[in-house]
Amino acid sequence: MFFNLGSKEFSEYNSKHLIPKKILLENYGEYASEIILPEFKDSFVLSQYRDFDLIELEQLLQSVGWGRRPLRRVKRALENSILKVGLWQHDQKFPRLIGFARCTGDGIIDATVWDVAIQPVYQGSGLGRRLMTYLIKRLKNIGVKRVTLFADANVISFYRNQGWILEPKGCKCAFWYSN
Ligand SMILES: CC(C)(COP(=O)(O)OP(=O)(O)OC[C@H]1O[C@@H](n2cnc3c(N)ncnc32)[C@H](O)[C@@H]1OP(=O)(O)O)[C@@H](O)C(=O)NCCC(=O)NCCS
Repeated sequence: MFFNLGSKEFSEYNSKHLIPKKILLENYGEYASEIILPEFKDSFVLSQYRDFDLIELEQLLQSVGWGRRPLRRVKRALENSILKVGLWQHDQKFPRLIGFARCTGDGIIDATVWDVAIQPVYQGSGLGRRLMTYLIKRLKNIGVKRVTLFADANVISFYRNQGWILEPKGCKCAFWYSN
């Protein structure tokens, strides 16, 4: 699937704030974006700069059913990614990672999205859609022109409803596995 970054404008979701701007910046870095949802008392923050605890990240990805990966390889994969977005349940001392996505690419023209996940307890509240909107906005800010991802069959409509275009007939995509 691919997404043409030239064709859309992205609006800010967060018109209301509970977290003071200074705290947001100190804890989550530049471009952090707060999300307030009526069904949760804590607010959430999207951040491209807050560091990850690798164990917490892998626990999140395992919570959506994905297999274990050696931490040192995950660490290197993150280092080699051009964008890593964390979705945090805000707490001034111990923010909790409840969503994640990352992108690889040349950082100029193309990017590919990997590891999109929202912790199951928080699924279905619009956080996944906000995570993707934020990620696209940050890529657009870098100047990337085209974004691709490999969607699992059961989540195609999640992406399609957000404007992603399904690659025709699924015939231009190939996977290679080393084992
Ligand atoms: C896919 C995922 C990231 C969606 O996150 P989420 O927070 O539950 O999604 P949202 O609440 O923002 O949903 C946005 C819209 O997509 C729809 N949607 C959510 N999950 C979907 C799914 N698996 N398939 C199809 N549509 C889905 C919602 O119904 C909602 O539709 P609406 O706007 O008409 O109400 C999340 O379910 C997840 O982590 N799944 C497991 C990991 C995974 O499959 N990742 C994708 C790998 S390609």
